Amino acid sequence: MIASIKSLAVLALAATAAQAAVVTYNWDLTYVNANPDGLFERRVIGVNNQFPVPSINVTLNDTLVINVVNKLNEPASLHSHGLFQTGNAQMDGPSMVTQCPIPVGANFTYTIPIEQHGTYWIHGHNKGHYVDGLRAPLIIHNPKEAYTYDEEHVIALADWYHREHEVMVEQYLSIFNPSGAEPVPESGLINQMQNAKFNFVAGKTYRLRIINMSALAMFHFHIDGHEIEIIEIDGIDVERKKVTSFPITAAQRYSVLVTAKTDAKTNYVLHADMDPSMFDVVPPELALNVTGTIVYNEAFSLAPEETSNWDEFNDADLVPLIPEAMSAPDQQFVLNAVFSVLNDYSNKAAFNDITYVMPKVPTLYTALTTGNLNSNPEVYGKYTHPMVVKHNEWIEIVINNDDPGNHPFHLHGHIFQIVGRSEGKYDPSVPYPGYFNTTNPARRDTVLVPSEQNVAIRFQANNPGVWLFHCHIEWHLQAGLATTIIEAPELMNDRLKIDPKHIDHCKALGIPYSGNAAGKEGLDLEGANVGPDPLPGTFTAKGIVALVFTIISALLGLATIIWYAREDDAVIAAQIAKAKAAEEEH
Ligand code: C2O
Repeated sequence: MIASIKSLAVLALAATAAQAAVVTYNWDLTYVNANPDGLFERRVIGVNNQFPVPSINVTLNDTLVINVVNKLNEPASLHSHGLFQTGNAQMDGPSMVTQCPIPVGANFTYTIPIEQHGTYWIHGHNKGHYVDGLRAPLIIHNPKEAYTYDEEHVIALADWYHREHEVMVEQYLSIFNPSGAEPVPESGLINQMQNAKFNFVAGKTYRLRIINMSALAMFHFHIDGHEIEIIEIDGIDVERKKVTSFPITAAQRYSVLVTAKTDAKTNYVLHADMDPSMFDVVPPELALNVTGTIVYNEAFSLAPEETSNWDEFNDADLVPLIPEAMSAPDQQFVLNAVFSVLNDYSNKAAFNDITYVMPKVPTLYTALTTGNLNSNPEVYGKYTHPMVVKHNEWIEIVINNDDPGNHPFHLHGHIFQIVGRSEGKYDPSVPYPGYFNTTNPARRDTVLVPSEQNVAIRFQANNPGVWLFHCHIEWHLQAGLATTIIEAPELMNDRLKIDPKHIDHCKALGIPYSGNAAGKEGLDLEGANVGPDPLPGTFTAKGIVALVFTIISALLGLATIIWYAREDDAVIAAQIAKAKAAEEEH
């Protein structure tokens, strides 16, 4: 009897342990040589000398522990994209927002209690490390999944470049690229390779978890000969929705259910088409139609490829299984996203004329060390674009996209409701034109704001901490398209605990870890990092481009240093070349 009670107790313990395991990954960040598109071998960033970086798999209620050793030759940090990190903002990862990056040769342990389920990813959040390969799926299983399926496949999409991010970003932000043309990738990859294969067994139902880990590209996903049903967006289970295809921007995730045929006589092509509208030019050698194979039988031939028909699709139509009504906002922010040539003559981004520039002190540390001043946005410095919000208030952010490009915006630490999307600029003097589903709007953590449109999102400020809100096109983050949400600063000292190791890292890097954005007391922000500002209003965009080229050609006598030139650039370059030729004749 006693023995059986004991064994019951052991069983009970084992059961709790199974429910809440500590899942440890040891990740040495290392350079690796790889040739993922089969076209070009280069140095990439991998983990434990491996590339692709292996997926992380955990279960709801686990604690994820990642022991990182930075064996790269520059500081690094990791961000678990889409995780709330409740009471754990110090583990969120963006460099100079919630931590000093991990110095070369140093180690750090990210400890993350898992409070959600669904499809996420983890990526470098210092410099453009993820563009160079430091990115991997992060899958959180739910012991009680909302849908039944037999098996799952992870399908990670990504754009791929042959040059290293550091080289490209320097060119991208240089005065030689006044139109702000983003580097165009050389390839698109599925699971960081060409021709990825996914095995299907007749009659089985598969959950496909599709993640876009790109720097820039948006993909359209579909599978020849099969119907797909969306069941999850960005970690939120949604009512089944049949589609033939759907678009997925950088940083978004979808799960779909697909049932394997019972009478397949061929294998089928799986498509991830890169959307050309994201690229300034599509080089003739760039294959937009990225494909993989659904394999029923290695011996089968491939069914002839179907032509791509992209569905009209609005992610705001998706209906979360757990409803949450739209609440009236307590505070509203309207952000105008614009790109232009600034007074450093480079083309950069701004929200409301503020280009994000990293502060001298990580913003979270400013919040924790400035006493009551931490509710005053000034203390964080103008160029972190701080937006202070009160605990548990509902916040609305309306993003006006005045740029000719589409932008996927991501909020750290939260899921938000997509409450509306409309043409043109939002007009605060009239009611919002057409909310979507007010009783249960779609929720996600990364939303596309198409060119010349606006999107309204709402979230509850129920997570004290410092959270970045930014465009997830990595080039645009580097160009300053970011703001910082300072959430319930008065509660942060009670709820958040900085790992002393983080402070060691700041010390090692010579980064101050207390005080305002300038590392000083009070509101003396002298010496804070400042950004480039808009040029005086009399300059038109074309005028600026022309001016910049004139300055460049005058300074350097260079006719054309154009990378992926837009039409404007070519015209101006021709003018400059002509002027230069005339000058030489002289
Ligand atoms: Cu995917 Cu700032 O993050």
